[in-house]
Amino acid sequence: MRNPGIQLPQLEADVDLGGGVMSISRYFTEMLDPDMGWDDVAQMVADWGGPFCLKGVMAAGDAVRAAEIGCAGVILSNHSGRQLDGTRAPFDQLSEVVDVAGDRLDVLVDGGFTRGNHVLKALSLGAKAVGLGSYYLFALAAAGRPGVARAMGLMREELVRDMRLMGARRVADLGRENLRLR
Ligand SMILES: Cc1cc2nc3c(=O)[nH]c(=O)nc-3n(C[C@H](O)[C@H](O)[C@H](O)COP(=O)(O)O)c2cc1C
Repeated sequence: MRNPGIQLPQLEADVDLGGGVMSISRYFTEMLDPDMGWDDVAQMVADWGGPFCLKGVMAAGDAVRAAEIGCAGVILSNHSGRQLDGTRAPFDQLSEVVDVAGDRLDVLVDGGFTRGNHVLKALSLGAKAVGLGSYYLFALAAAGRPGVARAMGLMREELVRDMRLMGARRVADLGRENLRLR
């Protein structure tokens, strides 16, 4: 409310944003191309020619397919559930995806991680890395760059403190025995 209207300069040349928030929302809905399939992704993996990480995987079967077409990693993500809310949380299927991935794929995860112990739980289940989206964006909106630095500092402190309390000296010490799922 206190700042100028939202601007998306990277889109202004190609997209009519005259309708404000609603036209931005329509753009993000319409840009999702339902014709895209696994063959297209396989082509991208081949064209890229280097390690390829596929973001937005939400099922163990899709992680298997990603491995089969040569992806080096997947990001288990519902993109924060901002459009399709009500999906199963990425964290809730992390262990299934890690199990099918084996050592063929690195599994990264994001969606809803806002505390150091959330990150440690995901690492304990076998995630290679955890992404934070809204966590830093809320801090950015509230307090700009210093807000992001503060949020990341708090995250770091939590990670270090919680690992100390768990008796874990390094990430490799984290394992499934740390968790009791109800
Ligand atoms: C404002 C905003 C815009 C986003 N835009 C995209 C996008 O264009 N493509 C995409 O794959 N993910 C997008 N995401 C999802 C993030 O890449 C990331 O998966 C998500 O923020 C992680 O969940 P979290 O916000 O709960 O931490 C967006 C997230 C936010 C908050």
